[in-house]
Amino acid sequence: MAAADGTLSVQIKVKRYQPEKEAKPYWQEFRVQVDPKDRLLDALNQIKWEQDGTLTFRRSCAHGVCGSDAMRINGRNRLACKLLIEDVGTRITVEPMLGFPVIRDLVVDMDPFFAKYEKIKPYLINDEPEPRTERRQSPEQRERYDETTKCILCGACTGSCPSVWANADWVGPASIVNAHRFIFDSRDRGANERLQILSDRNGVWRCRTIFNCSEACPRGIHVTDAIEEVKRAIMYGSNAIE
Ligand code: SF4
Ligand code: F3S
Ligand code: FES
Repeated sequence: MAAADGTLSVQIKVKRYQPEKEAKPYWQEFRVQVDPKDRLLDALNQIKWEQDGTLTFRRSCAHGVCGSDAMRINGRNRLACKLLIEDVGTRITVEPMLGFPVIRDLVVDMDPFFAKYEKIKPYLINDEPEPRTERRQSPEQRERYDETTKCILCGACTGSCPSVWANADWVGPASIVNAHRFIFDSRDRGANERLQILSDRNGVWRCRTIFNCSEACPRGIHVTDAIEEVKRAIMYGSNAIE
């Protein structure tokens, strides 16, 4: 129930863990007084600044742009800075994303995630002589990969995917989304190289079309559809790309 000033008393249970000091993670409960329009990140900051300075989590932009505060909130991966308290309720659980090694509390090791991202060559490949002006593209060609340019590499899709939980070597949805961004770019010439990388045993075929990734994406990217398009490009070659 709201207080006279409109604020809410909210219980937040956070999974805490310092792997080098503690044998296993444990839950710690906090209570904060927040405005319903506050974001969960505001509540976590309040805990850190006023109750327990040792609580550890990543954040930077606070506006859904940098992708650093993806975490598991009431069992679903979300950006803490985009989630309003009024949308998540007054009893909240917060955990690190699954499928990533925990460094401390809510901070996970993103190095393996970025190593897989680099594997798919996330940059324009084109060895043709440079044109006198820019490499031109029609609005339709640009539209073809528009959605996958919106990825902020937060990892929410990857951390919500059961195929990732089952196999840490699998390239995972975020890498495929970023491969899609270049494979379907008419200026790029590296599609075959990327499709070959994604055809191997830890490539796209480990996706079981579970859709958790699409549900988790804070940028509204239809991750499963992008993965399906890459699968079709592997099966049907350039006919599926154009
Ligand atoms: Fe995050 Fe969406 Fe990119 Fe996955 S596809 S890393 S959920 S922005
Ligand atoms: Fe995983 Fe998404 Fe595929 S949840 S199995 S990557 S559709
Ligand atoms: Fe940057 Fe949330 S703090 S996306």
